[in-house]
Amino acid sequence: MKQFIFLTFAALLCISGCNSNPKTMNKDFLQLATDRYSVRSFDATPVDQAAIDKILRAGQVAPTAINSQPQKIYVVRTPEAIAKLNTLSPCLYGAPQCFVFCYDDTKVAARGEGDNYGDIDVTIVLTHMMLEAANLGIGTCAVGYFDREKLIAELELPVNIHPILLMPLGYAAADAKPSDRHSSYRPLEETVEYR
Ligand SMILES: Cc1cc2nc3c(=O)[nH]c(=O)nc-3n(C[C@H](O)[C@H](O)[C@H](O)COP(=O)(O)O)c2cc1C
Repeated sequence: MKQFIFLTFAALLCISGCNSNPKTMNKDFLQLATDRYSVRSFDATPVDQAAIDKILRAGQVAPTAINSQPQKIYVVRTPEAIAKLNTLSPCLYGAPQCFVFCYDDTKVAARGEGDNYGDIDVTIVLTHMMLEAANLGIGTCAVGYFDREKLIAELELPVNIHPILLMPLGYAAADAKPSDRHSSYRPLEETVEYR
């Protein structure tokens, strides 16, 4: 009887998501990645906390160099703080909230002399979060165009915190559409070489 209970429990565990075999993972991922595009017109509807939490969790599980997890993410969403960010970048596109992606130089992994993996780690974290947002029907845009020095001053960032990218997020406005660049791909023959 004990054996039966144990086996049933183990089978249920497997069915309910202990799926570590990459071959059987979600087949729709490529479609999600293809459909995601940089949203450049948001409506004013705020994203609820449950969705923000899922998006943050997707970033928490992202790979980073030696798992250093140097990311520091500011969730900017008060109207006053969003108004400030709008003075530092023209690329919030009306989003009512924006993530500010930074890395912490006290936690980051070194990359040879005088270099580190901070911007790479942060960009991978951002990508995880961007794709989870897309999975939830929430639009995003990675933004490198902002006044770094002014942002440091406005958010009163400590000296060890380095801003890398912004990511406005929210629901795409009715007029939002992918830019022409979205589906302009270099051929794989150009970007990939087998050796
Ligand atoms: C590192 C990085 C920086 C970017 N900076 C900006 C930006 O400052 N403003 C903007 O509107 N889009 C920015 N983008 C979005 C790209 O322009 C966009 O991803 C690219 O044209 C492909 O279009 P898609 O995202 O719609 O597929 C950035 C993307 C990346 C990865």
